Amino acid sequence: MEDPASTASPAEAVPTLGDPRPPEVVELAHTLIHTRQTILPKRLGDPGPDAAQTQAILGAAASAPDHHELLPWRFIVVPPAARGRLADAFASALVQRDASATPLQIEQAREKAFRAPLLLLAVARLRDHDAEIEPHERIVSAGCALQNMLLMAHALGFGAALTSGKALASSALRKLFDLQADEQALCFVSVGTVIKAKPRRLRPALAHYVSTLLP
Ligand SMILES: Cc1cc2nc3c(=O)[nH]c(=O)nc-3n(C[C@H](O)[C@H](O)[C@H](O)COP(=O)(O)O)c2cc1C
Repeated sequence: MEDPASTASPAEAVPTLGDPRPPEVVELAHTLIHTRQTILPKRLGDPGPDAAQTQAILGAAASAPDHHELLPWRFIVVPPAARGRLADAFASALVQRDASATPLQIEQAREKAFRAPLLLLAVARLRDHDAEIEPHERIVSAGCALQNMLLMAHALGFGAALTSGKALASSALRKLFDLQADEQALCFVSVGTVIKAKPRRLRPALAHYVSTLLP
């Protein structure tokens, strides 16, 4: 894939302070942010993003805040040909934590690997040589990268979702994705065409999450 750092000039990449933002840019940002909503993988179908759209979605992650530029996260694409291996890992993870799982439950666990045309695993590196950047900062950075990707997918007209589940911490999944000891699987990212819409969720008012420190 093309390296965005090699194509963006510094002038494009870093606008100077006080640059006026045209109102349509503000309106576009507002619309994108406030019309995005999670569309769970079972509601996502073909077509998925093409190669250029996939690159745009993954490229959006690179603009996340990243203290000390550690790049403490990565994404692993699970292409259609590898979904069977993921299904096997989901089945193993279920059996590992519940030896009495029924064939139907195992089949349901396997089926989750085949949803959504574009499927990625998000992974954070919680520790490395730089002890100053603690795990929570790294996860926040990963969260910003994920939201950038969700917004880009939404801008391109796709539905998307973050999903987790107990299998993420399983040895089967860690082995499949070759996760290192200091890495944590955060969630899956699913992207595709919305085949079944869902009602808009009411968002919390500012008063529920903003307060002001007294002088
Ligand atoms: C890291 C993470 C993992 C999640 N995993 C699941 C999941 O496994 N299943 C699920 O139904 N929702 C999951 N959610 C919640 C949805 O992604 C979504 O945030 C929620 O449905 C609210 O939808 P909204 O994005 O439209 O506000 C997860 C959210 C996050 C941030």
